[in-house]
Amino acid sequence: MNNKEKSIGFFDSGVGGISVLKESLSILPNEDFIYFGDSINAPYGTKNVNEVKKLAFNAVDFLLNKGVKVIVIACNTATSAAIDDLRLRYTDIPIIGIEPALKPAVEVSRGRSVVIMATPMTLAEKKFSNLMEVYKEEVDIIPLPCEGLVELIEEGIIEGEQVEKYLKGKLTKIMQRDVASIVLGCTHYPFIKKELVKIVGEKIIIIDGSIGTVNQLKRKLVSKNILNDKKTKSRVSIYNSSQDNKIIDLSYKLLRL
Ligand code: DGL
Repeated sequence: MNNKEKSIGFFDSGVGGISVLKESLSILPNEDFIYFGDSINAPYGTKNVNEVKKLAFNAVDFLLNKGVKVIVIACNTATSAAIDDLRLRYTDIPIIGIEPALKPAVEVSRGRSVVIMATPMTLAEKKFSNLMEVYKEEVDIIPLPCEGLVELIEEGIIEGEQVEKYLKGKLTKIMQRDVASIVLGCTHYPFIKKELVKIVGEKIIIIDGSIGTVNQLKRKLVSKNILNDKKTKSRVSIYNSSQDNKIIDLSYKLLRL
């Protein structure tokens, strides 16, 4: 098999990266994808950095054994904890990461407030403080660690009373400030966007980083000359560290949403 025909490998702590995979299917409709969710070890965002690094290395090894041509870390938390080390170790394969989409949020928020919803680890890591440093003069940045939200989504709970209660608890007070936009800085969160809109209203601009990441992935495939030129539609294979079939079913369900 030549490199162009190989699949693109994705991983996340669980089902969250499916939101990025979904975007990839529309931007890269002729690529094949292999997705690995590490649900048995989810959530990553409340573990320590070394643990997440180790899990990220395992996930990459899994995908490399499947013969992928590029790795997408479809997880903000694993990107912030491990991307530098992963790139040092795996020098022969492009590795794309994702980070909270602060730049587009700053552009649309014009001096008002931007809320960044993400895991505690993403917000505590150096990558995020560097990003904040760049934009802190332009807008009021409100980091909002959302411990516990990934667990609900991993259970398939993406709407209803529990999600509503969680989001109200986190956001009601903050929304009294002059908030213009909310950044979804965790790939699980796009799945609760509907509930979020109900709480914060249609006027708040909600931004997630998937499109930027997938565009970056496409540029990388083009520059390395490994874009798949087949004419048939994408094939997707989903794997998970959990042996429970429920999680694979949930992954396909979220992909079809
Ligand atoms: N989807 C992961 C992210 O983007 C969630 C991390 C977690 O498992 O806590 O950060």
